[in-house]
Amino acid sequence: MVAIYPGSFDPITLGHLDVIERGVKLFDQVIVAVLCNPSKDPLFSQEQRIEQIRYCTRHLSNVEVDSFTGLTVEYAKLRQARVLLRGLRVLSDFEKELQMAHTNQTLWDGVETVFLATAKEYSFLSSSIVKEIAKFGGSISHLVPENVAKDICSYYS
Ligand code: PNS
Repeated sequence: MVAIYPGSFDPITLGHLDVIERGVKLFDQVIVAVLCNPSKDPLFSQEQRIEQIRYCTRHLSNVEVDSFTGLTVEYAKLRQARVLLRGLRVLSDFEKELQMAHTNQTLWDGVETVFLATAKEYSFLSSSIVKEIAKFGGSISHLVPENVAKDICSYYS
């Protein structure tokens, strides 16, 4: 069974990586799908984000990293995947995630969203928090994969 793990991943965090590492034990293949959203102004380009994710998941043979534009369910259909994988951190995530899962099901009733509870040590962690800490010169080495920490440091130095 193939699962799509969609997201912005700007940048990928250790919380995302934890979801991927646990997802690959549940599914035959996990496709990490980076959303290319032309209306957003990301810190890292789509190519950089793909490269960052590829590098930090290189130890996982059943992970593919790709990008998509438009609706997640259309991309899932294209990849013949019936599962969307998402991490759930805290209660405040739940409302948005449930809304997305229900919306996606109205768009394609063949899709199921599977939530993994994010590891408790990363329950506070988001890409935005990482960027904010880095912007003000704080250490982020405990929050993101090493290659991403290097990229962020060179961005802000
Ligand atoms: O990492 P994020 O930003 O929380 O990921 C959100 C994402 C990419 C999963 C969501 O915005 C998405 O699926 N966007 C694609 C557009 C879409 O399919 N919208 C309908 C479902 S709400």
